[in-house]
Amino acid sequence: MNERLPQKISRRAFLSTSGKLALGITGLVAGSTGLFYYGALKHRVPASQEIPSHMAELGDLGQLTALQGMIKIHYEATIHDAWVTKPVKSFVYVSVDAKGGLLILSPVCTHLGCKIDPVPVEKRGGSKNLFFQCPCHGAEFDDKGNAVGVVSQGLDSYEALVAEGKVYIDILAPIKGSISS
Ligand code: FES
Repeated sequence: MNERLPQKISRRAFLSTSGKLALGITGLVAGSTGLFYYGALKHRVPASQEIPSHMAELGDLGQLTALQGMIKIHYEATIHDAWVTKPVKSFVYVSVDAKGGLLILSPVCTHLGCKIDPVPVEKRGGSKNLFFQCPCHGAEFDDKGNAVGVVSQGLDSYEALVAEGKVYIDILAPIKGSISS
């Protein structure tokens, strides 16, 4: 069975491409991550039959690219392996980065896996640009997901994948956070 997967779009190209997508033009460049990408308009069966269940929809491309600040987006997806079907409910933190692309951060602390929380506004800033803190053992991260205290590994992130005006993430393919020196 053919599956149409969302196209991969680089953070740099995200905003500049969004207008073309809105007009139905499929001028995006497919990525080379091992997944197989089709053009967004090649298959016209309903999206629910096309998008693999481990791709989580985050929302409309136009709305996300107009974001101000950081927002928390909940998602649902399903992971199938040989014998087990596992529903997944979680969330990500999404913002528009300095280059105009989407920054999609995992909320999972890189110490032992607790979920991080945004730091109250009055306690942010300062020399390390604190933005998130883990309630378990105090790991700290900035608004780009970089580790700024307690742990050295930054938050995982996700590539923005676009199909017919919707943004998806592949929950099975997080991008490891960088290690600070
Ligand atoms: S699990 Fe987050 S600091 Fe330990």
